[in-house]
Amino acid sequence: MNNEIIIPKHVGIIMDGNGRWAQERGLARTVGHKTAIATLKELCIYMADLGVKYASLYAFSTENFKRDSKEVDFIMNLFIKVFNKEFDFIKEKKIKVLFSGRREPLPSNVLKAMDKIVEETKNNTELVLNICLNYGSHAEIVDTTKKLCNMYKNGEIKIEDINDEFIQKNLYHDLPPLDFVIRTSGEMRLSNFMMFQASYAEFYFPKVYFPDFTKEEFDKAIEIFNNRDRRFGGIK
Ligand code: IPE
Ligand code: IPE
Ligand code: MG
Repeated sequence: MNNEIIIPKHVGIIMDGNGRWAQERGLARTVGHKTAIATLKELCIYMADLGVKYASLYAFSTENFKRDSKEVDFIMNLFIKVFNKEFDFIKEKKIKVLFSGRREPLPSNVLKAMDKIVEETKNNTELVLNICLNYGSHAEIVDTTKKLCNMYKNGEIKIEDINDEFIQKNLYHDLPPLDFVIRTSGEMRLSNFMMFQASYAEFYFPKVYFPDFTKEEFDKAIEIFNNRDRRFGGIK
């Protein structure tokens, strides 16, 4: 890619289609989740190299607990394995890991692996990887509202302090707005992903399932982003 290309500062990826990727190959859905890890690794390295500053990855929604407990357990164990073992490149690329989402009802061994990777990467200065795990935009708005009510009750804030910027700062993390949201697998919905942060994001819905979302697919996405006309409510 040449220098004239604009790299979005904050990219959101709804990593969808793992189950269908596997089922279409006559494999168990869990194979799709496992295969997605290799794709994710390649993508994170590529985003770091391209100079993406923030990447928010939708890994597990608050609603995903509705799934068969066997699939949920498999995904939870995969998280533990990945956070503990397979993320050497995170340290190498100086990637800083954050998590967004509710801790309840995540199993304690998952929480432990999450806390460990956050602690180990907290001083890293390159790509910020915000992993949305047991995340829901509604839950985030509810939790933020409760936090602000408590701050008000304790006399820490006045009603007049509440504005756009203040709300952004008090979400799970103070991240810049999303510039670009990519959802793989052709579904065209947010499924409770970062609604506040995505207010002026550009959206792209490639047909490929997440395990097939390679660097080349990311290049296509960036090209599409570069052809969008962002106006933010103004007139050009
Ligand atoms: C995304 O793939 C991964 C998670 C939601 C955890 P899916 O498991 O939703 O795969 P499809 O959409 O059923 O193909
Ligand atoms: C959204 O995908 C959540 C993640 C990718 C983690 P889903 O597969 O859960 O969304 P729906 O059910 O198709 O809307
Ligand atoms: Mg899905």
